[in-house]
Amino acid sequence: MEFNLAVLPGDGIGPEVVDQGLKVLNAVGQRYGHTFNYQFGDVGGIAIDKTGSPLPSETIEISINSDAVFFGAIGDPKYDLDPKAKVRPEQGLLGIRKALGLYCNIRPVKIFENLSHLAPIKKDYLRDVDLVIYRELIGGIYFGEKGRSNNGQTAFDTCTYHVSEIERIAHLAFRQAMKRRNKMTLVDKANVLESSRLWRETIQSLSSQYPDVQVDYLFVDNAAMQLIINPSQFDVILTENMFGDILSDESSVLAGSLGLIPSASIGEKTSLFEPIHGSYPQGAGKDIANPIATILSVAMLLDHLELNGEARTVEKAVGRMLEADMGTPDLHTKTILSCSAAGDLLAALTLDDNLKPEGYSYARTKSSSDV
Ligand code: IPM
Ligand code: MG
Repeated sequence: MEFNLAVLPGDGIGPEVVDQGLKVLNAVGQRYGHTFNYQFGDVGGIAIDKTGSPLPSETIEISINSDAVFFGAIGDPKYDLDPKAKVRPEQGLLGIRKALGLYCNIRPVKIFENLSHLAPIKKDYLRDVDLVIYRELIGGIYFGEKGRSNNGQTAFDTCTYHVSEIERIAHLAFRQAMKRRNKMTLVDKANVLESSRLWRETIQSLSSQYPDVQVDYLFVDNAAMQLIINPSQFDVILTENMFGDILSDESSVLAGSLGLIPSASIGEKTSLFEPIHGSYPQGAGKDIANPIATILSVAMLLDHLELNGEARTVEKAVGRMLEADMGTPDLHTKTILSCSAAGDLLAALTLDDNLKPEGYSYARTKSSSDV
């Protein structure tokens, strides 16, 4: 089959990790006889540098007209240090989410057995952790009315949700729970926030349509603690935009590295696939970034294209590399690979089920400090 993908590498390590994802996609194409056509677009800081806009209209156009969007990362410290900057790379990411109507962001967190020592949490607590966060992505405080008073001394950001915005993601989360362990936890702050009370009310009234799903309600502060002291209680976590942003970074700690968690964003138009990590500017250009989150995002993209066997092959390639105790410096594996060597190896493992990772010529035994 033939697919047209929009590829938006973005800033920092974005282009490096996206390159590894493309190697794996090409390997999938070669093995299964698919053609992936890539159309590249600029977004974020690089787009500002080239065009003055973090999201040029051409980028929106190629994204809308593609079968899926493959996204790297955006962000640049020069903007972080300048809170007065009028144009920011993040506007590119938020803008494309809004332009594509990507209201549902899906962030799965699984533990790779042989990486569980990386988490700063006792191994026993990590047993059976397998959760997925359904984060609302184009509403709430991120997109509500915001501003400053005339004298600049007061600032505000408003969190607004309409019941229809809650319902559309809730249906997806309920259906996902039914395919998993039939448990859904709504995370909110309903003891304080009116918008949270609307979330709770809406989920309570929808729950009768999903009698098999057990629904729990947790305040976000408690949820943040429960994720550390008892993470295996969670199956599907449903939450609003900002709580989902925070809890998903927190959950990545369970897996051992932010570099392991992929995501899919789905909604009204074309879906988008991106690692949850940011642009990691300190690591850019050094070939040390972990491409696994991006490559697992490729697997989610393949599932979305209904290439499920292909997606499983990619996931297995990641598992085989990690079982061989090979990975990028953040994983502290026995064999340390550069980002590009990890991408080459994962592409080779995707092509060949019988390849032994240890024997692959790109594998170099080095200490992390050499890379
Ligand atoms: C994420 C990121 C973004 C967000 C930033 C870069 C705007 O942290 O995808 O989690 O806050 O949504
Ligand atoms: Mg985030």
